Amino acid sequence: MKTITVAITGASGIAYSLRLMELLLQAGHRVYLVYSSAAQFVAAQECGVTLSPKVAETRQMLLNRYACKPEQLQVFAREDWMAPMASGTGATDAMVVCPCTMGALAAIACGMSDNLIERAADVMLKEQKKLILVPRETPFSAIHLENMLKLARLGAVILAPNPGFYHLPASIEDIVDFVVAKILDQLQVEHQLMARWGEAG
Ligand SMILES: Cc1cc2nc3c(=O)[nH]c(=O)nc-3n(C[C@H](O)[C@H](O)[C@H](O)COP(=O)(O)O)c2cc1C
Repeated sequence: MKTITVAITGASGIAYSLRLMELLLQAGHRVYLVYSSAAQFVAAQECGVTLSPKVAETRQMLLNRYACKPEQLQVFAREDWMAPMASGTGATDAMVVCPCTMGALAAIACGMSDNLIERAADVMLKEQKKLILVPRETPFSAIHLENMLKLARLGAVILAPNPGFYHLPASIEDIVDFVVAKILDQLQVEHQLMARWGEAG
């Protein structure tokens, strides 16, 4: 069983993180969730999902939604400095910032550590553990690209949510699953979301 930090920031594409958490929990892994205040707004707008300022309420909502074991899911406030992933001694196996705003990208690239999302990402970098960023913006400015390059050189995985269409998606869910499959591959978590290239569908 892996423990994965999932950080949701206020970029478009909340559906990716909801599906990612679903599959991680279904596969028996443990998720530590943290989200920004902008994410609360975008989640409500895009998915009709309430990421409450009260993390206990969000945890209960997600336990109901995913029907997982309570010990598989912890939700932390963005200012919770006592959260395990705020320290190298409690660093999780991997961290995914999904979706990742350009603001969060910049803060992580600068090592700001001003909230739990930024701090946990900074911990992953300093501990040389897997940090996956799913940056969402278009077009990218040179600032965005420089931040991504800096982080890629530090070992972070820049996993832009660019769906392929060669699997002939028939729904938004198929497009979401394409991106989530790429994240799960990076996490080395088994999945059956789509046939691999060269395999029969
Ligand atoms: C509906 C909505 C969609 C947004 N989409 C994006 C986006 O795709 N990428 C991005 O960088 N910012 C986006 N933003 C702006 C961020 O939410 C804003 O910069 C915020 O300060 C980011 O804070 P955070 O990084 O703490 O979540 C969006 C905002 C709203 C309200």
